Amino acid sequence: MRTRIIGTGSCLPEMVVTNDDLSKIMDTSDEWISSRTGIRERRLVKEETTAAMSVTAAERAMKNAGVSPQEIDLIIVGTITGDYVTPSTACEVQAAIGADKAVAFDVNAACSGFMFALHIADAYLKTGIYRTALILGAETLSKIMDWNDRSTCVLFGDGAGAAVVRSDETGLLAYDQGSDGTRGKVLTCQNRKNNNPFVKNPIAFSYTQMDGQEVYKFAVTTVPASIRKVVEAAGLTIEDIDYFALHQANIRIIQSVAKRLKAPEEKFPTSLDHCGNISAASVPILLDEINRKGLLKPGMKIVLSGFGGGLTWGSAVLEW
Ligand code: ACO
Repeated sequence: MRTRIIGTGSCLPEMVVTNDDLSKIMDTSDEWISSRTGIRERRLVKEETTAAMSVTAAERAMKNAGVSPQEIDLIIVGTITGDYVTPSTACEVQAAIGADKAVAFDVNAACSGFMFALHIADAYLKTGIYRTALILGAETLSKIMDWNDRSTCVLFGDGAGAAVVRSDETGLLAYDQGSDGTRGKVLTCQNRKNNNPFVKNPIAFSYTQMDGQEVYKFAVTTVPASIRKVVEAAGLTIEDIDYFALHQANIRIIQSVAKRLKAPEEKFPTSLDHCGNISAASVPILLDEINRKGLLKPGMKIVLSGFGGGLTWGSAVLEW
């Protein structure tokens, strides 16, 4: 049996912030942002929370799959921006949708979070422990941005994406994932400061920091290698793949991966022009967008690939 995506859903916050909106509050321009990244606008939360967007995305995915909350055995949310340290976003989703039989927990693998959640769900489903899982990527990255640092804050957005997966005759054909903690410092966001009363000089809290060029080098070498590996493991060639749904970090990364794989850019759908980079939520939101456009037909071969902080990466080949 294989793990098959049987429904997708997503949720974006209402507020649209364009590059021009940003240029009114900081020294940047639509030209700088769009030419270097492909991002034109992003959605940022006002009142919405990571959990609330996750719940909406989950409900849409369950409706799309024709699955009720009582059928969900497992909920995994990939996120680095849960509303609470505890309870997990997954437990909040479980409570809100009434999936009372489900086991629920979050995974922290930054922009690879949805891919890691998919692989964990696959392991549970393959062993027969669970039959149906709800997996999500959800972020409110605007909370962890330094809004005085134009080199990072313009890149990111908020949102949530979800998929329902179930054991079936076809689905996930092959998977590759990896981590390299030795390079973790190229993309960081520190947790809350140590404020115990015995510490004289607590370490200051810092927001997201990134060495953009190092992240770029990591992405354009690791992602094509991971995709090649997983396509080969599935017994397929790059030409056999109908769509490559990649983490939406930067259009230049996507173009470079396409070039290195010798695959046409038309096979790389994007959402980053209107979403920006939403870390773990990028892949499931993009997947939901192309699913709802009717682009995915049974039998098609789809590559999903996430990569980012940790450093971490994960790629999968699915038969739709
Ligand atoms: N608006 C205007 N100017 C800016 C901005 C901005 N928003 N941000 C930086 N600049 C300026 C810098 O101050 C610098 O000016 P200087 O030359 O006078 O010092 C100049 O632009 C170049 O800055 P760099 O940081 O060197 O810009 P770079 O050309 O590397 O582009 C970018 C930055 C687009 C982030 C690039 O490094 C990149 O594509 N990185 C890939 C990583 C990525 O996309 N990460 C996303 C998150 S990680 C993930 O999801 C995996």
